[in-house]
Amino acid sequence: MKTIRVHLSSQSYNILIDKGLLRHIGDILAQEKSPCKTLLITDTNVERVYGGAVSESLSRNKFDVRRIALKPGEEQKTLDTALMLYDACFDHKLDRNSLIVAVGGGVVGDISGFVAATFMRGVPFIQVPTSLLAQVDSSIGGKVAVNHPKGKNMIGSFYQPRAVFIDTDTLSTLPAVEMVTGLAEVIKYGVIRDAELFAFLENTLYDILQLNHTALVNIIATSCKIKAKVVEEDEKETHLRAILNYGHTIGHAIEALTGYKKYRHGEAVAIGMLYATKIAMEMGLTDSLVLERQLSLIRRLGLPLHTGLPPEDMVRALYTDKKTVAGRLRFILPLKIGEVAISDQVTEEIIYRVLNKPL
Ligand code: GLY
Repeated sequence: MKTIRVHLSSQSYNILIDKGLLRHIGDILAQEKSPCKTLLITDTNVERVYGGAVSESLSRNKFDVRRIALKPGEEQKTLDTALMLYDACFDHKLDRNSLIVAVGGGVVGDISGFVAATFMRGVPFIQVPTSLLAQVDSSIGGKVAVNHPKGKNMIGSFYQPRAVFIDTDTLSTLPAVEMVTGLAEVIKYGVIRDAELFAFLENTLYDILQLNHTALVNIIATSCKIKAKVVEEDEKETHLRAILNYGHTIGHAIEALTGYKKYRHGEAVAIGMLYATKIAMEMGLTDSLVLERQLSLIRRLGLPLHTGLPPEDMVRALYTDKKTVAGRLRFILPLKIGEVAISDQVTEEIIYRVLNKPL
């Protein structure tokens, strides 16, 4: 088992990574916490495959478990669903000593964390991410949220989990497209902080897609370590944490403009990373090899390379994202593979030039 510690003074926690870990969650939790009321939140897809195993492991250790499964999908991540989950918290008589356990992808993790952060001003919370995207990104670092009609993740908080359990076996039931879109975030980590991880992806992509255990643990653990380090330095995103948004400035604009339906998050991020690199090239900050290497990986994964959205619409959407700072757009720009800069100097003129150029 691999253990990664996220050091956040009084809120430090472990990320545990192993094969078959789901079946041992209760045993591990019981070493630190006495049995208590536990609300286990999943979606109906995950519940069918993994709900029983997690629940059984908790019950065996005398945790009093109530299971609740949401309908799958981003549309569920609303205040209405949160209200329904608060009802479940009341029904099961949760208190501040209870546990909320989220088993699923980013949607389940985000909304469960939001409910955990706000019910009685905070109930201990465990993340059990079952998608690659959630394992390498959304389950770590404490961003919890629901969507608002005016924007994704606009109502939320920073609330750290007490532990994150990553069972690599869950990737065997993940649809291929989810695997590939999760890998877009792993590419992101390579570009922002780790040239070795990027080269590992280039050299081992086939094994990763074949779910080779050693390769998977390597990319997940390396991604988690990078994210943990960044979050430790800047938990509330005053500056450095913004580098985790590489590819997301344009990525979020693409998602918003297409109503979060046409592109999956990782697809939009892949396109966003390529555009961010082109912007960096246009500003003389990086060279074409940095673009070529990302392009090649993204192409091998079958992720989209560009979007036919009108540049005017894209620019308008950029300004409505929460990544704007005092009305200025903030971009994360690659300098080389493994190093990025945070820039508020990207002008509309540069953006239009890049958006109007074929890739
Ligand atoms: N996904 C970006 C962050 O957690 O800051």
